[in-house]
Amino acid sequence: MASAETVTVSRLRDFPSPQGATAAIEAIFWETSHTSRFPSEADRTAYRDRWLGRYLEHFPEEAFVALSPEQAIIGYLVGCLVDPASHPLFVDVTYFPLFAHLTPDYPAHLHINLTAAWRGRGIGKRLIEAFADHAARRGIPGIHVVTGDGSRNNAFYLSCGFERLAYSSWNGNAIAFFGRRLNP
Ligand SMILES: CC(C)(COP(=O)(O)OP(=O)(O)OC[C@H]1O[C@@H](n2cnc3c(N)ncnc32)[C@H](O)[C@@H]1OP(=O)(O)O)[C@@H](O)C(=O)NCCC(=O)NCCS
Repeated sequence: MASAETVTVSRLRDFPSPQGATAAIEAIFWETSHTSRFPSEADRTAYRDRWLGRYLEHFPEEAFVALSPEQAIIGYLVGCLVDPASHPLFVDVTYFPLFAHLTPDYPAHLHINLTAAWRGRGIGKRLIEAFADHAARRGIPGIHVVTGDGSRNNAFYLSCGFERLAYSSWNGNAIAFFGRRLNP
């Protein structure tokens, strides 16, 4: 496999084939998803929409991809810059209100996933930096991630400059809010 230095990180909008991009991103989404069985096709569609589809549809300008030397998508970051605790699009994500005291200072949020073969080579960090730069240039004061409290990726976010600022319980799971201030 080629080295991670040959991987490029770019905005999704600069990828030449949007349809091909969506299929590749979706494949990585399902590869990394904790949930793969659903009671119905409608549940499966709703799950995909909640964690991926709505970002591609409503916030394509905020999406980034990591490309192999062959220009294959090997990782992605989707997100948005507006406060999700007060945006109607996220009303079904019931953990945002739990952190509404923090989201005004850290309004932008993101979801990031890499295909397994390319993890642990600094590519995730580069995707985070691309999103952080993008948000800072637009005057956003901070970014955040909500993830499983104590899960393996917590060390990744700490290494990327996030701090664990709050925790809660959601649907019986321990979750944590990781925030990172930006310097616009
Ligand atoms: C989490 C993920 C995006 C990180 O991307 P990555 O390219 O593998 O991470 P990097 O190589 O950029 O790692 C950057 C730092 O985080 C650390 N790190 C990365 N993944 C880690 C993990 N799972 N556990 C502990 N530390 C981790 C690295 O050691 C590195 O630290 P350093 O800079 O001090 O050396 C990627 O591993 C992934 O997609 N994992 C599966 C899905 C997932 O957990 N997504 C996030 C859901 S919230």
